[in-house]
Amino acid sequence: MENKVSVGLLGLGVVGSGVIKLIENHQEKLAHQLGCSVQVKSVLVRDLEKNRDVNTNEIVLTTNPDDVLNDPEIDIVVEVMGGIDEAKQHILKAFSAKKHVVSANKDLVALHGPELQDAANRNKCDFYYEASVAGGIPILRGIVDGLSSDHIQKLMGIVNGTTNYILTQMDSEGVSYEDALKEAQELGFAESDPSSDVDGLDAARKMAILGRLAFSTAVDLEDVEVTGIRGIELEDLQYGDKLGYTMKLIGYANFDNHELEVNVQPTLLSKSHPLASVKNEFNAVYVYGEAVGETMFYGPGAGSLPTATAIVSDVISAIKNLRLGVTGNQFIEPHFKKELKTPDKRRGQYYVRLYAKDEAGVFSTISTLFHEREISFKRILQTPDKKHELAEIIFITHETSLENFRNALEKLKDLDVVLEVKSYYKVEGDAVT
Ligand SMILES: NC(=O)c1ccc[n+]([C@@H]2O[C@H](COP(=O)([O-])OP(=O)(O)OC[C@H]3O[C@@H](n4cnc5c(N)ncnc54)[C@H](OP(=O)(O)O)[C@@H]3O)[C@@H](O)[C@H]2O)c1
Repeated sequence: MENKVSVGLLGLGVVGSGVIKLIENHQEKLAHQLGCSVQVKSVLVRDLEKNRDVNTNEIVLTTNPDDVLNDPEIDIVVEVMGGIDEAKQHILKAFSAKKHVVSANKDLVALHGPELQDAANRNKCDFYYEASVAGGIPILRGIVDGLSSDHIQKLMGIVNGTTNYILTQMDSEGVSYEDALKEAQELGFAESDPSSDVDGLDAARKMAILGRLAFSTAVDLEDVEVTGIRGIELEDLQYGDKLGYTMKLIGYANFDNHELEVNVQPTLLSKSHPLASVKNEFNAVYVYGEAVGETMFYGPGAGSLPTATAIVSDVISAIKNLRLGVTGNQFIEPHFKKELKTPDKRRGQYYVRLYAKDEAGVFSTISTLFHEREISFKRILQTPDKKHELAEIIFITHETSLENFRNALEKLKDLDVVLEVKSYYKVEGDAVT
């Protein structure tokens, strides 16, 4: 192997610039770790005239993908352009040309990861995508390598910084969802069209990738049930707080007896849960392993240099494999068959807030309806609204099946004494009271 490895980039935006900076600034360390130097040779961009915030004097900028994908000197292609179809075609072409690929593209990996991995395996190439989940946190390596000896039972993640920022601001500043979103947009934490973040799709993509690797099963994006935080009301965060919980958008995945449950939903999390302390734009993934017990991986989920660290670590892994002559040998084929867990097997505690008539016997009618479905209450709050002659009732159930809860909720809406079911959320953990 030569004393220099050449890397080609597809994209030179926020992440691509970070990759160039990191490779440039860490030359000595890279040479020491790898026994060779690493050089970014050429970069695909859309606009050659654009001002770049990195020095590109020694790099060929091009608008022709073949200048990267067909250059025999380039061993490793880093895809940081985003999007799905074009990026996918480029990556497949890179594998055909026997180049190893590192990608940060969660949208693409969530949708087409298995197909791309297949193409990599057929061509004896490496395909790494650490940066696609939780930016700078080495969570995929943590799962695939660090916990490879364990049996992972459950994953819970705060894997979207935008929604965590919005919920943290609502919680700490007492502002509405709309105001918190506006602030996040002004600070650059949320896009002008925030749908993919606030509707939970971005987190769902990351949970699909995490679930595949943690449980060695073929988790598809459609397997992930998604509810976002759009329009969430401050009152629910405030009642949650009173009861010992904090609201987070939680990606949850669990796999037992070949039965899979993966979802993303706003969740009232006990303040004593390790994830409850993850604030603002930070990310964290909580992993529960049969042998290791509780672990948590915490850090920045995005940003130029944090994300670049994950990418350059992948580049280093690919170069190490090249030097050892073991590329294209990742054992990450799904091992287990998958079936989705039916609602009768999905267990959880639930928070409900409703308006009811302010008269005697109302609460007993509601609790009878739940008891008939074997659901009991753990915490109850009731605040009469004398002016409107109604009562606001909040309760948290003990653990029950999703099927029983859904059934009780449907019947609850039909009760004469219930004027409106305002909201309901999953609850995780026991509140410290
Ligand atoms: N930003 C983060 O913190 C972060 C974190 C984790 C993962 N990611 C993922 O990393 C990827 C890149 O994100 P980013 O924030 O760096 O995006 P970005 O700032 O928008 O940069 C995209 C780059 O790709 C180039 N590009 C896009 N489409 C192209 C095309 N069709 N042909 C040629 N060049 C094209 C653009 O060229 P021009 O510069 O000429 O326009 C630009 O340099 C995405 O998949 C994203 O999901 C980002």
